[in-house]
Amino acid sequence: MVCVDVVADNATQCAAWIERRGGQALGVTCDVTDEAQVQAMVTRVRDVYGRVDVLVNNAGILGGLGVLEMPLERWSRQIAVNLTGTFLCTKHVARCMVERGTRGSIIVIVSTAGHQGQAGNIAYATSKSGLLNFTRSAAMDLARHGIRVNSLTPTATDPDEGAERAVAWGRARPERRAGPLDFAKMVPMQKLPSPRHYARAAVFLASDDAEMVTGCDLRVDAGAVAKYWPWVPGA
Ligand SMILES: NC(=O)c1ccc[n+]([C@@H]2O[C@H](COP(=O)([O-])OP(=O)(O)OC[C@H]3O[C@@H](n4cnc5c(N)ncnc54)[C@H](O)[C@@H]3O)[C@@H](O)[C@H]2O)c1
Repeated sequence: MVCVDVVADNATQCAAWIERRGGQALGVTCDVTDEAQVQAMVTRVRDVYGRVDVLVNNAGILGGLGVLEMPLERWSRQIAVNLTGTFLCTKHVARCMVERGTRGSIIVIVSTAGHQGQAGNIAYATSKSGLLNFTRSAAMDLARHGIRVNSLTPTATDPDEGAERAVAWGRARPERRAGPLDFAKMVPMQKLPSPRHYARAAVFLASDDAEMVTGCDLRVDAGAVAKYWPWVPGA
């Protein structure tokens, strides 16, 4: 397992956490918007492990502003990380898979914000929406090489598991922010997914159980996107 992040501490602490749980992991610092760094990261992974079987495009900048307020610089950075970073990692990992004849699996982390018009989050929602068709198009390009490309849609996430992980990594427990809306009450299943629910879906997409699944989006969103808009769950 290789943990890649632009923040060195995130990459190394993630790898160390996996090793403490009995796995094998390597932390690599890399800015996914920089093609030379992405190439160097893929070369390092190939040198250490010989091949890449699975890529999860998870790096992202969350949150943002609406179209009236968004400065160009912030827009460009968010689009670069969320959309171009996924393109660059997919391009260089897929090349490595093709060279080695690896029938790999590439997973793109989207968001429910990519499926619906979201107010106050123009670059995030636009980039995540772009990733849905990036996934379908890359799946078409790579199908003849036996490489599958699918996206996974998370949504607003229950904060408890992430907070426990922060503490396990020796970081301060993040403060529980009480927003004006109770998201859990707004989704059909009346509770929010946790990171483990996303992880299990990613493991499925990475595995041979999904051998005939490509160009698809797997939503792990407690029914949020499927909901008919005027229906208020629990009302
Ligand atoms: N948290 C949620 O509720 C939620 C909901 C829907 C979708 N998502 C998606 O899940 C993914 C992970 O989100 P998260 O909540 O864990 O966010 P997070 O901010 O905790 O993690 C994102 C990581 O990406 C890294 N990153 C940022 N820019 C980078 C760059 N240029 N190169 C390499 N790494 C970079 C950050 O350092 C950070 O560690 C994102 O793609 C996000 O859009 C999250």
